[in-house]
Amino acid sequence: MTAQPDDFAAAIMAAERAAAILIAAKREGSVHRAKAAAEEGRHCPQIVIEAADLIGRLGERGAALDLLSAGLSLDGPTAPLQQAYARHCRDAGDLEGARRWLRGAMLRARPNAAMAFALCEIELSRGDEPAATEAFELAGELRWIDAAALRYAADRLIAIGRGDLAAAPLMMMHLRSTADLPLRRELGALLRRHAPFERMPERLRTRLKLADPQTAADMGPPEAVGAENGIDFTTSWFAAGAKAVWDQLLPEINPTRILEIGSYEGASACYLIDRLGRDKSLEIHCVDSWEGGVEHGEGGSAQANMADVESRFRRNVAAAIAASPHPVDLVVRKGRSDVEMAKLLAEGGAGTFDFVYIDGSHQAPDVLCDAVLGFRLLRANGVIAFDDYLWQESLPYGVDPLRCPKPAIDAFTNLYARKIQIISAPLYQLYVRKLSD
Ligand SMILES: C[S@@+](CC[C@H](N)C(=O)[O-])C[C@H]1O[C@@H](n2cnc3c(N)ncnc32)[C@H](O)[C@@H]1O
Repeated sequence: MTAQPDDFAAAIMAAERAAAILIAAKREGSVHRAKAAAEEGRHCPQIVIEAADLIGRLGERGAALDLLSAGLSLDGPTAPLQQAYARHCRDAGDLEGARRWLRGAMLRARPNAAMAFALCEIELSRGDEPAATEAFELAGELRWIDAAALRYAADRLIAIGRGDLAAAPLMMMHLRSTADLPLRRELGALLRRHAPFERMPERLRTRLKLADPQTAADMGPPEAVGAENGIDFTTSWFAAGAKAVWDQLLPEINPTRILEIGSYEGASACYLIDRLGRDKSLEIHCVDSWEGGVEHGEGGSAQANMADVESRFRRNVAAAIAASPHPVDLVVRKGRSDVEMAKLLAEGGAGTFDFVYIDGSHQAPDVLCDAVLGFRLLRANGVIAFDDYLWQESLPYGVDPLRCPKPAIDAFTNLYARKIQIISAPLYQLYVRKLSD
């Protein structure tokens, strides 16, 4: 806030009004309201930055830069505005602008590690390796504040194929918030894939406890089924998450007919084949669009080439079935889950599945649809398992509840309270038994 003392109360009230308009703009996805919020809160850099971020996300990159530029010229540049301006330049592909504004922000305020990692990525994208190395080494000397900016820098490094470097900002986030399970898993997968210990400056390695290769192992076991059967996973989501619960729960449910929503490269499906195929024959329906969720797309936390993922799925399940002592009838249903589940219902599948595993889209409306249709397809006494109950995206602007599974799963369990029983399990997944239709 840069208002004079006389104007102080008025500026505070304007910022409060602006914050209310901004909340409405976020709820409605309105560029118009976001601009109004920035106008009302023009002396408050945080309002201007959040309004510009919203406008940028809504696709109007030029308008976002204009807002920030107006903010910069109104009260004179401040480091947060310069940093935000640099981020928007970077997102618009203007590397020179991004570099200039970010360096300006670092000179104006006490710089932090997130700024240096962001600068490192910009220098790499400009092809200036020595400047990138210098920025990366500098990051090791600076404060680890601003988790959203660390996340942004890590995502940009991943986006340019430098997951090895992204391990450092992610490790800083992890050490400040060790209970963030998705982050822990993501970091574990990154460390196992890139083993960045060798190339990291020694001081940074030591500060981040990255010197010890055991760190990667501590982040969770790498695979559900060994690579020796020709099975190959690049992620350990399933092994680090659902597997421990399934080890205990599946013998009790003992399912024969299974529906899986979201198969990715087949880790959970291979586990089911491996565990249950030892004792009896099985029927498993795997539904996946193999188009990925938002987290698999550009800039997402788990970017992947989905054509490769699908090929790995097909190889992995074929290898698991070949190794199974009992026959496995695997039905691959490639398509959106709502369409494929509606087809199953139309084919007379209502009430025929013993176990439904929901691990597809993480967007709340999609999860709600999967839950409702999954419930219809499940038999009485069968179990629905929801993965990623607490999954959240670390977006630069915070958490968007409509892009998370939890509100949808909560809505489902509330509306179906008389027809289900919640089974106790660690909270990252939610397990529900169907009592009746
Ligand atoms: C988290 S992964 C599944 C992980 C898998 N169960 C495992 O244990 O390895 C989510 C998958 O859901 C798929 N997906 C996302 N939205 C979908 C939708 N609306 N319909 C069908 N599949 C979807 C993605 O393509 C992705 O492969």
